[in-house]
Amino acid sequence: MFPASCKFVTLRTEGMMDRSSAERQEICDGLLQQPARIAPKYFYDVRGSALFEEITRLAEYYPTRTEAAVMQAHGADIAQKVGAGGTVIEFGAGSCEKARVLCRLLRPQGFVAVDISAEFLHDAVARMRAESPGLDVQPLVADLCAVVELPADLPRRKRLLFYPGSSIGNFDPPQALALLERFRGLIDADGALLIGIDLVKDIAVLEAAYDDAAGVTAAFNLNLLDHVNRLIGSDFEPAGWRHVAFYNAAASRIEMHLEALTATRVSWPGGRRQFAAGERIHTENSYKYRLADFHALLGRAGFARCDAWTDPRHWFAVVLAQP
Ligand code: AVI
Repeated sequence: MFPASCKFVTLRTEGMMDRSSAERQEICDGLLQQPARIAPKYFYDVRGSALFEEITRLAEYYPTRTEAAVMQAHGADIAQKVGAGGTVIEFGAGSCEKARVLCRLLRPQGFVAVDISAEFLHDAVARMRAESPGLDVQPLVADLCAVVELPADLPRRKRLLFYPGSSIGNFDPPQALALLERFRGLIDADGALLIGIDLVKDIAVLEAAYDDAAGVTAAFNLNLLDHVNRLIGSDFEPAGWRHVAFYNAAASRIEMHLEALTATRVSWPGGRRQFAAGERIHTENSYKYRLADFHALLGRAGFARCDAWTDPRHWFAVVLAQP
């Protein structure tokens, strides 16, 4: 199982001060596992984040635009169900692009943008404040996967947790359940969770989304090796590896791997590993849900009521879950 990880928001509460040594340890441990693995949170250095933005605009990568279309088509209905006022809290807020649309619909009193990247958050929050002078906008630099400490003075009344982009898909099922339970703990009976999930669909559509013709996803996956080289001082040669992505139907997930083109030895301070030709490093899972299964998962996490909106092809769902 991958260590809890997802786009921009990752597990860590203790030891923030020695974050880099804990990360080094985590990466080295993963490289020595059988099979080797690197957690997907390490995709997102500056280049990786830019490549991910590029991925979201690819013809093959349907999730981002499909979710936006669902929000556009059903926003009024969602707003009516959520009701005005309260506080919107977005996890993995990034540029706050999606929250901007949501806040226009919901007219909340407050908005909290939670993200691991302080720089990203600073600019996004400044833009949001300038655009919506009446809205109380607060940035919160935090890791999502453990207990997120929301500001002590943040009202509990009518909290709407917003977790778009099918980022929950990058968690293995036990971690996804734990995350949903933590979300449930952040709201009272009048609160809700609005979450985007990617749905099971035709394999060819799924696989193309993670192995695009222009090779952007391949570059995104391979960039991980450059990032890891910087983080742990390893000597990966990205040119000696290839991007592999496929749908694992039994596990209902896309898997991404990096495969060694030839036998190769990788060294880093304190360790090394010999990879055979064709041997892989597992870099990401992206789970695809059936709505009924996701509703059941929400139920186990303490959300009793669910509404869902999808696109006409049922490729992506936006789910409103309430206690
Ligand atoms: C961030 N996350 C939801 C993306 C996904 O679709 O699982 C990450 C990604 N990996 C390759 N393409 C996109």
